[in-house]
Amino acid sequence: MKIPYAEPYKIKMVEQIQKSSFEERKKWIKDAKYNLFNLTGKQVFIDLLTDSGTGAMSDKQWAALMTGDESYAGSDSYYRLKEMVKKLTGFEYFLPTHQGRAAENVLFSAILKEGNLIPGNAHFDTTKGHIEFRKAVAVDCTVEKAFDPELIYPFKGNLDLEKLEDILKKNPSENIPFIIVTLTCNTTGGQPVSMQNLKSVQGLAHKYNTKVIFDSARFAENAYFIKIREKGYRNLTIKEIVKEMFRYADGMTMSSKKDGIVNIGGFMAFRDRDYYDRASVYNIMFEGYLTYGGMAGRDMNALAQGLDEATEFNYLESRINQVAYLGEQCSKYGIPVMKPYGGHAIFVNASKFLSNIPREEFPAQTLAIELYLEAGVRGVELGAIMADRDPVTRKNRFPELELVRLAIPRRAYSYTHMDVVAAALKNIYDRRNKIKRGVKIVKEVPILRHFTVELKKC
Ligand code: F0G
Repeated sequence: MKIPYAEPYKIKMVEQIQKSSFEERKKWIKDAKYNLFNLTGKQVFIDLLTDSGTGAMSDKQWAALMTGDESYAGSDSYYRLKEMVKKLTGFEYFLPTHQGRAAENVLFSAILKEGNLIPGNAHFDTTKGHIEFRKAVAVDCTVEKAFDPELIYPFKGNLDLEKLEDILKKNPSENIPFIIVTLTCNTTGGQPVSMQNLKSVQGLAHKYNTKVIFDSARFAENAYFIKIREKGYRNLTIKEIVKEMFRYADGMTMSSKKDGIVNIGGFMAFRDRDYYDRASVYNIMFEGYLTYGGMAGRDMNALAQGLDEATEFNYLESRINQVAYLGEQCSKYGIPVMKPYGGHAIFVNASKFLSNIPREEFPAQTLAIELYLEAGVRGVELGAIMADRDPVTRKNRFPELELVRLAIPRRAYSYTHMDVVAAALKNIYDRRNKIKRGVKIVKEVPILRHFTVELKKC
């Protein structure tokens, strides 16, 4: 008999989570104005709002916290983290920040100018926000295949090289300081970028005299997909693949809350001194002195350990198999989910799931509310509410995809929790024709409205 697959860890500490009744949830979600961000953690049973900062640290990471060095300047923990980043990426120059968007804030303050173009693969919202805040433009060059939710293609995070070259060719290089490649591409469903694509993007960057920055939040998950899906990488270790990936970049921003498996933290790292020197000034102003940049010494110590663990094959296999397991359960019940399954999350196609509900009544938010009511599971709407209104016409924007993201925290939930989520979705799917009305907006702010929007049932 084939020995079944199991996680490469056992549990040393547990945290109680609260079950609740349907009646309680009905009241709580109404009090929360039908916005899942307004629920308290205690009102949620299984929290799949994000995989960011929600993972479980290992015993070695907790031990590393105790030995953190809190020196303001030159702490041991800073050097331990800097060495780990260098070992993994080859980058010599390193600046810590308090989280990923802080690294974007610092780097873009130093480099971006009004009117610059920043090509990339479906930039993450904070990245795009920081580009647009400086009156520069994020140009999406993702492959078209990424926008067909059921198409099986191994590297739906890839950049379309023709689109990219077209932008590079038509604009002077001083107007395009760098290209941003997001690994894995969160916005298109946690989809990976192939090594071949990374190599080609760097080739174009050299040809047109610009640089490549990786938005690296889920770089280790990307490396796992390269190992499993791309020819020639099966026999390399994850760390060898990671090292090769970063050969095709000049620098990186990082949200350590994902593949660093810590609850807070971020950084930048560069191959050359130039960007480091320019970013250093802003790091001191916005984050803190160069050797802590918004992080406690103990947190840098735990992060160094977390990066080491996140780039081990056994961990990644267990992580990505668990996400795929939830995807498989959903597919088995006929629930429309994006394919291939992403590295960190399952994305439910809400406009297909609740096809009775018009886009104006926000089917993804309606489904996220139903999922909470059904079993206390919290996901997040990635659809028209998140897309905000058009800044000029003030009309609602309706993006191509209307999704509910179920992001799986690292090492936190069991396979049985995944069964609960899939069963809850199945129950809703079985009664989907009875759900005839969605929600409408009562109160909203002009940008990033999804965090604070107030809704009511139609
Ligand atoms: N880049 C990517 C690809 C991200 O997914 C995120 C955060 C960031 C940058 C910003 O990092 O949160 O540390 O400031 N994504 C979270 C999510 C919030 O839920 O997907 P941060």
